[in-house]
Amino acid sequence: MQTYTTIADLREAVRSQKKAGKRIAFVPTMGNLHEGHLDLVRRAAEVSDCVVASIFVNPLQFGPQEDLVSYPRTLEADQTSLNAEGAALLFTPTVEEIYPQGQDSQTIVSVPGLAGILCGTHRPGHFSGVTTVVSKLFNIVAPDCALFGEKDYQQLIIIRRMCEDLSFPIEIIGVPTARAADGLALSSRNHYLSSAERKIAPQLRETLLMLKDKLAQHPATSEILEKEGEAILMRAGFEPDYLAVRDAHTLDAISAKSDQAVILAAARLGKTRLIDNVTVALN
Ligand code: PAJ
Repeated sequence: MQTYTTIADLREAVRSQKKAGKRIAFVPTMGNLHEGHLDLVRRAAEVSDCVVASIFVNPLQFGPQEDLVSYPRTLEADQTSLNAEGAALLFTPTVEEIYPQGQDSQTIVSVPGLAGILCGTHRPGHFSGVTTVVSKLFNIVAPDCALFGEKDYQQLIIIRRMCEDLSFPIEIIGVPTARAADGLALSSRNHYLSSAERKIAPQLRETLLMLKDKLAQHPATSEILEKEGEAILMRAGFEPDYLAVRDAHTLDAISAKSDQAVILAAARLGKTRLIDNVTVALN
């Protein structure tokens, strides 16, 4: 695997892969890779001839009170794992390479509506930071397809929408959430949990699964389920930001037309903010 830090060098490397007729798959990350990220890389290798990964802790998507400075950075270990999983090219730009004019005068890409709900309400500016950097990375890498985890469900829906709206000729592939043995969704932020919090954390997923069963039986009860779910989380020691039942395709409230719902939750456990979701087929 070759690592590149400049846009020009990475572009050149991708160009020669394309000249050789390779289909390019792209996996953007912020590093500190775990099995969830590596699932994306493995899937990328199955659907392409050349996997390009990126590691960039994007300052534009962190709020002023968030963990930009303490976000774990483990480049050498990440390079070893990416290499072992068959990534061909890795892009690790500096902040100056991505935002040479400074972050404040950078052109912003934002998806109205979708970016202002759910996590967007609690993390103002977060999703426009994500769509700005992802559109920039898409223009740099110009892949045939890009892979994103279903763990960040709202992010996946927003990126699909951005590609549609801006006519990016890139297929967006969602990959199921990788979990620890006890069901907790893998996340770089799980390291922040104390051992007592780590024992409570799987209850986020357990609560969503319990609500999933109830919703599958009685789709009309979604508002009651939202309240019930939040109360269960609070009793377990979480501080929920939200728990919401939505149409899985649009993230609108579910309607008679919805064929699939998603139950999404974000909740703080001590200083750590956890998110998770489950999808539910509706008849
Ligand atoms: P990051 O949190 O590093 O995640 C990179 C990719 O890995 C995202 O598509 C995310 O959904 C996926 N992922 C994380 N945990 C996962 C899990 N347990 N199972 C499956 N997939 C998982 O998401 C970002 O970075 C950034 O917002 C980014 C898209 C790179 C833009 O900066």
